[in-house]
Amino acid sequence: MYDFRIDAADKPALYRELIAAADSLTAGEPDAVANMANIAALLWETLPELNWAGFYRHVGGELVLGPFQGRAACIRIPFGKGVCGAAAATRAVQCVADVNAFPGHIACDSASASELVVPLVHDGALVGVLDLDSPRLARFDAEDVAGCSELARLLAPRLASMDAAAPEALKTR
Ligand code: SME
Repeated sequence: MYDFRIDAADKPALYRELIAAADSLTAGEPDAVANMANIAALLWETLPELNWAGFYRHVGGELVLGPFQGRAACIRIPFGKGVCGAAAATRAVQCVADVNAFPGHIACDSASASELVVPLVHDGALVGVLDLDSPRLARFDAEDVAGCSELARLLAPRLASMDAAAPEALKTR
C-alpha cells in the first residue's frame, strides 16, 4: 500500500514532498501509463481545489487523453487549440487565471475556472502535457508553476515510453 501523507506548512514544502513522493512512485518503472496513473492520483489527493488532474500524451502530432482524475474529458486536442494545445505548440507553461477569458479554451467541465498546463519535454521531444484544472479563479500562482515545472522535469523521462518518438521508431523497422 502506498500512503503518502503530505501535510506541508507552505506551498514550496508541499511541492518538495509531492516531488519526493512522485520520485519514489515512478523510479525504475518504465511503463508510462502506470506512472501517469499514479501521478494523477497523487496530484488529486495532494493538491487542494482541483476538479481535474492528469495527462494528455503527444501521439502522432496531436494530444490524446491519458490517465487522469476528475470528470470524463475531451479525448483529442490539436496543437494550438485551447490551453493544453497552446502549451504543446509553444512548449511554454500556461497558467490561466480565468479560462473563460482564454481564446479557444476547451470546456471539458463547466466547473473549471482556472488552469495550469505544463509541457513534458524529454530529449528535445514533447512527450505530452500535465494539466490541472480548478473550480476557483486564479487558483494557480508562481509557486504552483515552479513546483509543477520541477515535477515535469522529473517525470518527462519516465513518461516517455509512449511518446511521439514511438511512431517514428516503428516507421524505421
Ligand atoms: N480545458 C483544456 C482541455 C482539457 S480539460 O481541461 C481536461 C484546454 O482548454 O486545453
